[in-house]
Amino acid sequence: MTAAQPEDGELAIDTTRPHPARMYDWFLGGKDNYPVDEEMGRKVLAIEPGTPVLARMNRAFMQRATRWLASQGVRQFLDIGTGIPTSPNLHQVAQEAAPDARIVYCDNDPIVLAHAEALLRSTPEGAVDYVQADVRDSAAIVERAAKTLDFAKPVALSLVALLHFISDEDGAQDIVSGLVSRLAPGSYLVITHATHDFRPKDAEQVGALYKSGSASLHTRSRADYEKFFTGLELVEPGIVTGDEWHPELGFPVPGAEHAVKAGYLAVARKP
Ligand SMILES: C[S@@+](CC[C@H](N)C(=O)[O-])C[C@H]1O[C@@H](n2cnc3c(N)ncnc32)[C@H](O)[C@@H]1O
Repeated sequence: MTAAQPEDGELAIDTTRPHPARMYDWFLGGKDNYPVDEEMGRKVLAIEPGTPVLARMNRAFMQRATRWLASQGVRQFLDIGTGIPTSPNLHQVAQEAAPDARIVYCDNDPIVLAHAEALLRSTPEGAVDYVQADVRDSAAIVERAAKTLDFAKPVALSLVALLHFISDEDGAQDIVSGLVSRLAPGSYLVITHATHDFRPKDAEQVGALYKSGSASLHTRSRADYEKFFTGLELVEPGIVTGDEWHPELGFPVPGAEHAVKAGYLAVARKP
């Protein structure tokens, strides 16, 4: 499979301002970031030194959720806000459990497209594709993903550490409900999201830092997070924090036991 081609100009990587995908890569110890990303990352660490552990825990949740979804028979995955490849990626976890799994990745940052090759190594039985698009253009994402995924059958839609980059003014709730409306019954929605509920002052300071970069951060309360799952059935253990979501499924993160609470995680099923 080859990545969907971006429009002219979309490929330009802006190294003058920090970008969330590249900062996240830096927090994870990756090499696909620039000095501006590291500089901003260090400012975030001065406020919340546990950010690298939180990033690994977020990643581990995505991996456990994928493993669980595959165990439930899900064979199609749409992952929006994929990030720079970090092994194991979603398709590797899904295809390890189910080699015939079909995965479509999507991100709006050209740095992710530049590294998409690592995301496109599918098993022969399955399929992996990449769509360069903004989640706010959800109709186009579904249209392009439909070349690989059959939307008449269940799809697991993952929006992992993505929605806190989308404001209420940009219609975060409508974007999610619009995407969910395109999914067949038996589909799943996976969301992790930063919150200010536990450490409001830190969240405010980190939010101000992001705003001075290329993306603004919109942390949400538990009540607002829960609204994303309206009309869906939360899977046990419901909305949790940290590593509380099915830790028995693996991917343990050293230091998780000392991590601060900074976000919510959940998986829900479309009835
Ligand atoms: C913190 S990273 C999370 C990566 C991955 N989902 C994970 O949790 O390991 C957030 C990702 O969302 C992407 N992103 C931010 N705003 C976006 C938008 N409007 N549309 C699509 N992707 C977006 C960023 O480029 C980045 O790759």
